[in-house]
Amino acid sequence: MASEKKPLIPAHKRAELEALLGRILKDVKPTEAEMGLATRYANEVMLRLKKVVPGNVEILSVGSVARGTQLRGSSDIDIFLLFPKGTAEDKMEKKGLALAKKIVKKGKRESYQIKYAEHPYLMLTFEDVGLKADIVPAFKIKDASERITAVDRTQLHNVFVNDNLSRGQKDDVILLKAFLKAHGIYGAGAKIEGFSGYLCELLIHHYGSFIDALIGMSMLKPPVTILPSSRKEYRYPSKESIEFMKKFDKKLVVIDPTDSNRNVAAVVSDESLARFAITSRILLKNPSSGVFYGPSYSDVYSERKLSRIRKELDLNIYVLHFRTPDIAEDIIWQQIRRLGSSLSGILRKSGFHPVLVLENVGNGEAILSFFISRSYASYLVVEGPSVFMEESAERFMQAHSKSLGMLFNSDRITFLEEPRFNGPREVIQASLLDKHLLPSYIKKEHMKLHINTMPESAAKLLYDAFMRKTSL
Ligand code: CTP
Repeated sequence: MASEKKPLIPAHKRAELEALLGRILKDVKPTEAEMGLATRYANEVMLRLKKVVPGNVEILSVGSVARGTQLRGSSDIDIFLLFPKGTAEDKMEKKGLALAKKIVKKGKRESYQIKYAEHPYLMLTFEDVGLKADIVPAFKIKDASERITAVDRTQLHNVFVNDNLSRGQKDDVILLKAFLKAHGIYGAGAKIEGFSGYLCELLIHHYGSFIDALIGMSMLKPPVTILPSSRKEYRYPSKESIEFMKKFDKKLVVIDPTDSNRNVAAVVSDESLARFAITSRILLKNPSSGVFYGPSYSDVYSERKLSRIRKELDLNIYVLHFRTPDIAEDIIWQQIRRLGSSLSGILRKSGFHPVLVLENVGNGEAILSFFISRSYASYLVVEGPSVFMEESAERFMQAHSKSLGMLFNSDRITFLEEPRFNGPREVIQASLLDKHLLPSYIKKEHMKLHINTMPESAAKLLYDAFMRKTSL
């Protein structure tokens, strides 16, 4: 007799969650009017392109609008110009952009910008309706092995999603995107390091539905490799799982069904993955719109709010504040994180342990801040090598002969020394003099160090980063 599988959540909980999600979907799915408008403008762009592109270039609508998986208010159109494979790459880029420019009707409240991701493309804005259309040149391919540029795969993603997801599952993709967005983990950019739109589509296909994706995530035991093409999952320590770990070196691997060499979850940080797992558990336990949409906060009076937090935690807040140069925000994010981790290492070694390191970028400004306890020890613990590494131990003892005292940490010689710096301010200021520490786009002369009090624009960025970091 076949045994019945026990449901992973009780039937009444599932029904409760389904009712809630039905209500939420009405708020997060684009209205008929929004979808109609997006389709009309996508068709208009394609029609205009058709008049100017040569016969061997294919025009294709892709991305979430073409698949019906976009969030309400995010109906940005993606149109690809697919060139035949024999075309030279630089010619394809130049020609593609030139053709795209031709269709912009400048007098009619339309404007464009050339954008650079892994590849240049044109972003056309229809100012009257607030819609954007990205026109992206790429190569026409049949499978990933023919791929020349990174964006060539997108045309294959379209086919996979449209062939494999039902309308109901596409609605579940919308719910998943909304849930992740509400919890600050939707998007593959350097700020969020979270789940991209395509990854959401693959997770819904793999788990079957939004609720099943929540169940899967709530029970996730990384490292895990998901193969959406066959809906298989490999867990550590299976032979396959170890092979995937070696190849991709990530806690979550989701193999692109259109390209087995790509991990679609490559940019998902461990923190984003952890946040998805824990928010899934909370929503399954307590299905409510409050939990789905997460906490909301206002950034008015940010400095006053930070001052209260600082006093409650008995901390000092050190904030480096600067105007950002005119480059892609992703690069600033990468550089500011790198500087944050170097400076926190130096602060730690100098005896001042940051409790929190927060960074944020927005409105042409950036902050990097360290929350450090107000009281610190009057000595520094300097750990040396093991006694049994004779030569190094000898050298270490000579170098630290003026120490306040010696102790052992297991077999390692450890000295107590007078701190070299009087406080974190001195450490930060001295470190910034080191040219090797500063990434290329972050200049010391553009940076101001504030301690505890800061301009409201810096406080807003910091408060926003604090709330994102400390809430679920
Ligand atoms: N894409 C990708 N990897 C990325 C970014 C984009 O594979 N890091 C491909 C995906 O096929 C994606 C398409 O390019 O669907 C368009 O990307 P984008 O407009 O950024 O996302 P959407 O999927 O349209 O999602 P949404 O706009 O709803 O956030």
